[in-house]
Amino acid sequence: MTIYCLGSVNADHFYAVPHIPEPGETLAALELTTGLGGKGANQSVAAAKAGAQVIHIGGVGPGSEWIFERLESYGVDTRHIATLDVPTGHAIINVAEDGENAIVILAGANGAQSEDRIAAALQDAGAGDVLLIQNETNCQVEAARVAREKGVEVVYSAAPFDAEAVRAILPATDMLLLNEVEAAQLEKALEQSLFSLPVARIVVTLGAKGARWIDTRSGDSWEVAGTRVEAVDTTGAGDTFAGYLAAALHEGMKPEEAMAFAGKASALKVTRHGTANAIPMRAEVEAFSP
Ligand code: ADP
Ligand code: NA
Repeated sequence: MTIYCLGSVNADHFYAVPHIPEPGETLAALELTTGLGGKGANQSVAAAKAGAQVIHIGGVGPGSEWIFERLESYGVDTRHIATLDVPTGHAIINVAEDGENAIVILAGANGAQSEDRIAAALQDAGAGDVLLIQNETNCQVEAARVAREKGVEVVYSAAPFDAEAVRAILPATDMLLLNEVEAAQLEKALEQSLFSLPVARIVVTLGAKGARWIDTRSGDSWEVAGTRVEAVDTTGAGDTFAGYLAAALHEGMKPEEAMAFAGKASALKVTRHGTANAIPMRAEVEAFSP
């Protein structure tokens, strides 16, 4: 039983700068820190740290050996991450002394996925497996359709949010994950209640308040309360939740238990600075009693 994750892999470049550069200005950065990012990579790392067998499907550019090493050190199988002749997806994040930031993103290899490569990666996939997808690569709908035909459960995390992307993939999706703001945007854009969407299960994360589970077929909905922590960095909270939830459901945990487990994992994440590196291991989550 495997979790396949078609998703972005980014090299995040954090430049510490005195201020955000003005148009035309040349500014010397004070420091550069490079980290592994991308929603796809983060979700793969979260699912792997939760204990699942995870195969990431994606692409990077030349010079990305450190990315393979990093992902493998977290337990992610990288055999279906292709090295392509385009730059690795990356973010250039200027962080000013007053905390303000300005970010430029290049999709790069994340936007160069092909249906053939995805189909080859999913060749041995079948019932009992999961395909996790987010909105930072191309070929999302194609991948969902290929997976569905094989009986693989498709979980779509609607971030970064785009209502049209959600509309396109929903008919080939078993479970939709999104946050509270995105849920409101989706209802408005599609002029439809979440309960009438063509997807069996929806999970809406509610930040510190926890998360809501919606079963559209029965019309049931319930919430798990948030875990009280002192948050220092909420980046990657949603990705931690997604990866942990997919892993927990996949290993057969009941929805109530899986939601609580994913909530605890992401609460622990927000007490730490960073993304992939800051996602907790399963043993830490199990030992965490806030
Ligand atoms: P996103 O990061 O996608 O915007 P949320 O902000 O809803 O998503 O966070 C995802 C999950 O992370 C929440 O459902 C919750 O379990 C956990 N979480 C986020 N922020 C906090 C917080 N301040 N305290 C405790 N848990 C949090
Ligand atoms: Na958040």
